[in-house]
Amino acid sequence: MGGMKRKYKLFEKLYRKQIKPARDNFIEYDLAYPKHEFLKFLVEEKGLLLHGSNNRVIGTLIPIKANCGEKKFGNLKGVYAVTDPILPIFYAIQDNGKVWGTTISGRFSSADKNGDLSMSYHFEIEGDRLRQKPWSPGVVYLLAKKAFRQGRNDRGYLIGEWVSLKPVRPLAKLLVTPADFPYLDQVQSLEPETDPSVDHKKWENELKKKVRACYKIPFAEIHPWGHSLQVVRNVKKIAGAVCPSHLVAAVTGAYLHDIARENDGSGTEHAIKGAAIAAKYFPKSLTPSEKKSLTFAIYHHADLIAPNGGFPVTANFPEIRKKGLIEKLIAALWDADRLEMRRLGGVDKRYLSTKFAKQLLHK
Ligand SMILES: [Fe+2]
Ligand SMILES: [Fe+2]
Repeated sequence: MGGMKRKYKLFEKLYRKQIKPARDNFIEYDLAYPKHEFLKFLVEEKGLLLHGSNNRVIGTLIPIKANCGEKKFGNLKGVYAVTDPILPIFYAIQDNGKVWGTTISGRFSSADKNGDLSMSYHFEIEGDRLRQKPWSPGVVYLLAKKAFRQGRNDRGYLIGEWVSLKPVRPLAKLLVTPADFPYLDQVQSLEPETDPSVDHKKWENELKKKVRACYKIPFAEIHPWGHSLQVVRNVKKIAGAVCPSHLVAAVTGAYLHDIARENDGSGTEHAIKGAAIAAKYFPKSLTPSEKKSLTFAIYHHADLIAPNGGFPVTANFPEIRKKGLIEKLIAALWDADRLEMRRLGGVDKRYLSTKFAKQLLHK
């Protein structure tokens, strides 16, 4: 019997034996397969929904007002559930006593070399909490779909989130421990806006505040405000190494590069618009060539190919040298942004302009 078939047979047996309506029991999970594979089976084959919580003794899930500024659907008073088998484990194992503040989770489908779609995930927890290893066992509640309706995003597309406006009694519970979460050592630290370990200069704090105030999609899945902050952290490292005399300009560009983003799409429109808007925020101390270089860098930061048809790295943009722009500054900025492709399943070295960023990739 094939491995897959055998797995499904065992899952089926466990499901029949242990998940009975109104029994509300803890499943005795004694299979060798990861629990998220069993959850995936329950969603795909049995049509169940999942809700993760660190509270292990919920008898009935009560609707509560959610607070997700990202979409209208996330603002109802309801019991939320998902079809993704990984996200509820992430929420279940966050120790209630240790995790508060912002946590970010996202899932993206990405295609591999063969064009097959696979899921990749991205998780962030505030740095102070993350350093305390805030994990403890929790529960994934298994729910029947009939009380739920499927959510839509603000553009009207169906999403993998469901809501019930009435209380829901779970069919069964699956205890999960931190070891059941396959991304435990990949959770990134989300540094608070005023990170005391980073020496933010006054000009930087002011710029940050202004850009944050007009950033339209602070809670987006792929480009939340945290993305810009991460690009700032990257550029401090890269520009600090390759063009330290242009550090202020580089940091400015990192805060501003996605300022015109209105959605998570990959087009160049936000880059072109952003280049025009960004100029209004440039600190007075920047030199004319720094300003021109930033405008160029922002304008072209989302290009998918270079004018010569090659990869969009600075070496393939002859106009940079013709116009007397600062190549290293542009390179640092582009690389700082592209290193964040990590979150989307990997960075392709050929899109990086500096040796320094290529080395960072291996760290
Ligand atoms: Fe961008
Ligand atoms: Fe970006």
